[in-house]
Amino acid sequence: MEDKNIIRVLNKVDKSILLLLEGSDKFSDEIELSTALDRSSVINSGRKMLSLGLIKIEGIEEAQFILTKNGEVYLKEGLPEYRIFNFIKNNVTVTYSQLYNMGMDKNEITAAIGYLKKSGVLLEEKGKLSVDTKMESRLENRNKILYAVYKGLIKETEDLTDLLRRGIIENISKVREKFSITPLGNKIIKDSEFNEDLIDKLSKDNIKNWEGLKFREYADNPEILSSLSGKLNIKTKFSSFIKDVMISMGFKEMHSNYVESVFWNFDVMMFRQDHPDRDIQDTVYLNGGKANVPKDILTNVKNVYEKGFKESKYSESIGYRRKFDISNSGTLIMRGHTTATTFRYIHDIISKNKEKPAKFFSIDKSFRNETMDSTHLLELYQIEGMVYDDNLTVADLIGYIKQFYGKIGIEKIRLKPTYNPYTEPSLEIQAFSPKLNRWIELGNSGVFRPETLRPFGIKKNIVAWGFGMERMLNLKLGMGDIRDLYGAYTDIDLLRDTDSAKIFSEI
Ligand code: PHE
Repeated sequence: MEDKNIIRVLNKVDKSILLLLEGSDKFSDEIELSTALDRSSVINSGRKMLSLGLIKIEGIEEAQFILTKNGEVYLKEGLPEYRIFNFIKNNVTVTYSQLYNMGMDKNEITAAIGYLKKSGVLLEEKGKLSVDTKMESRLENRNKILYAVYKGLIKETEDLTDLLRRGIIENISKVREKFSITPLGNKIIKDSEFNEDLIDKLSKDNIKNWEGLKFREYADNPEILSSLSGKLNIKTKFSSFIKDVMISMGFKEMHSNYVESVFWNFDVMMFRQDHPDRDIQDTVYLNGGKANVPKDILTNVKNVYEKGFKESKYSESIGYRRKFDISNSGTLIMRGHTTATTFRYIHDIISKNKEKPAKFFSIDKSFRNETMDSTHLLELYQIEGMVYDDNLTVADLIGYIKQFYGKIGIEKIRLKPTYNPYTEPSLEIQAFSPKLNRWIELGNSGVFRPETLRPFGIKKNIVAWGFGMERMLNLKLGMGDIRDLYGAYTDIDLLRDTDSAKIFSEI
């Protein structure tokens, strides 16, 4: 791109940041401080100048350590190894049981002894323990680490692994973005046009009296447009592609809200109360507020839960034979699975049109209170589907699953029996991830148990599933770590440039 064209699309913010970088590299938070710009202006301008090739941005992880609750206690009382050292020093020799009676946590004592032995401070002879007093200063220094962490003065060179592992200190490292100017950036700054004071924002006044005024240009040439224009994120493209697939299979889309009640997320699906069933998904509970719950269905759910039902010799259920407590049903949560939406549609549509077959799907967010790792996200898109018709069996379910994954282009799948409180049988869908070199779970499915459908007066079968969208996309992209698709550390060029034709070509 020609220099002049670049200069013409730079606004005042961009220019001031570029000038600041001329002297030295700067972290984005430093730029915020010295320019009084807000964070998003700095980040936006940074991204823009990055795509114009004027600056480079590098993420630099900075470790930052803090004391845990335990660490705070030890800051006052001394590290266990320090206390044990002094205790032995004062008593010359001691036994293990004396140490374990010092009133500290057993695991901590064991860990401290481990440290003392490893570093050659603790000597043992026939069950008698003594210490090498020449090592005193080493222990004092170690104890001082806590104070340094407390004061935020800790150096990364210090060996902290042991203290981290024992939960005495915690790493809350963060990534800072370092901006540096490129040779092109330096060249642009020196251009005489760079310092021209152009009008950045149009006002009523300068539109009226535009003659003789100099305005900043808007990106109107294709070269600039293609480097600056927004593009659809790969996840958005993928989800609309999946929508097309579901629609081509004859499904209609369902919609509902992120905030859900315990009733629709758990109760209607016969998740047992006060039972680990409810921990299958780590739920995000919300404070305050209560949802309205349909009274008639609540009563039916309670009856089936407590007593089951008997319809004929072949159709009966004994229920859980426990009391169902209705007081939590209205509690608000972030929905943990989009199956809650499925049950809303069972209530709103299917139970009111029992004669009509129905096929519904949704692609929507669910929320889990989990720790993020290479295959887990806290917010994930689920592809939910259900089919209501006469005489459906697990064979139909398998047929739909195979057809769907076939259309997506994931052929190597396998099904494994699993457990859901609300389906029987239940099948987990697994696919092989070449990157992780293992089978990963892609989704879960089943035939809804009669207990979940009788409260709505439904006697036919419903087959249903929930697939994780990000894992599927990850697999399609040949990536191993799901975090590469989300959050601050994703590769922006990948998200911009991944050629959708390539990913969807097999389809
Ligand atoms: N709700 C299940 C999950 O979140 C998926 C599922 C949907 C299973 C419908 C069976 C039937 O994993």
